[in-house]
Amino acid sequence: MISDSARPRRLRNLKWARDMFRETRVTAENLVYPLFVTPGKKIKKEISSMPGCFHVSADEAAVEAGKCRDLGINALLMFGLPSKKDPLGKEAYDPKGPVPEAVRLIKRSVPELAVITDVCLCEYTSHGHCGVVKKGPGGDFLVDNDSTVELLVKEALVHARAGADLVAPSDMMDNRVGAIRRALDGAGFQQTGILSYAAKYSSAFYGPFREAAESAPQFGDRKTYQMDPANFLEALREVELDIMQGADIVMVKPALAYLDVLRAVKEKFQFPTAAYNVSGEYSMVKLAAQKGLINEKAMVLEILTSIKRAGADMIITYHAKEAAKWSAE
Ligand code: PBG
Repeated sequence: MISDSARPRRLRNLKWARDMFRETRVTAENLVYPLFVTPGKKIKKEISSMPGCFHVSADEAAVEAGKCRDLGINALLMFGLPSKKDPLGKEAYDPKGPVPEAVRLIKRSVPELAVITDVCLCEYTSHGHCGVVKKGPGGDFLVDNDSTVELLVKEALVHARAGADLVAPSDMMDNRVGAIRRALDGAGFQQTGILSYAAKYSSAFYGPFREAAESAPQFGDRKTYQMDPANFLEALREVELDIMQGADIVMVKPALAYLDVLRAVKEKFQFPTAAYNVSGEYSMVKLAAQKGLINEKAMVLEILTSIKRAGADMIITYHAKEAAKWSAE
């Protein structure tokens, strides 16, 4: 053996060499910044469960978009809050809703930024579920797959017409990627892409988001349509189906407790891959930082590096703006 260490000590001791041979680099270009868009004007209200994140009206969303562009971030993901919720989530497919309005504004003011829209009903339904609720055979509630897919298709078309570059279905209904793809193509939106939440687990890490989106289910849980955290092989099947149905990017969500899944998805499919560094992962870091328990900057960069190292090309993270700055320092 000529060298007795995995990284020769002569290189390890030199900063330029550590920089040159570093295997993974997170840059602003890998990051997507999520926004919660609310009806109204000039609104920017901090979300109590997610310090540093805000509910913004469409005009303020455009201001945020400009800031992201200046920081080198290339894409935004938008969630909508309706003015009124109802059982069928009607505002989700209202062309005058906050998300389409913000998409139009951003595409006018910061056209170079990619705009991704979340396609789901849970923020818009009065019961907080991701689809149409019906009584099942045993008298229990059930989210009906096929009637939900019809509404998701309408929502995706509204977003595409407003100018979204990618639509991102996060509901986990079966066959929704294929149905959205066909509808987009049929309406002349061949260039609008699909970022599929392909392997989305039923996770406690979504807690702070549900407060932010006011979307906690009013009864039951999401276990009938989101994945069991114990299942790995099922994730690979979910991803494969979404790729076959026409997804352009596949996502694993959450990120940190599922890095093994992310790694396997990247290795098996070698396809554009995203990971969602979700609200619970964000708020744990923020609250620990507020208490002075951790070095926030170092921890955020370590977390994002681990997600990229595991296989994500695209990382959706509430830390995006700060991380874009820190990673360039
Ligand atoms: C809606 C949706 C959720 C998230 C993204 N889209 C919540 C859920 O499924 O309950 C979670 C995002 C986060 O926690 O940051 N279907």
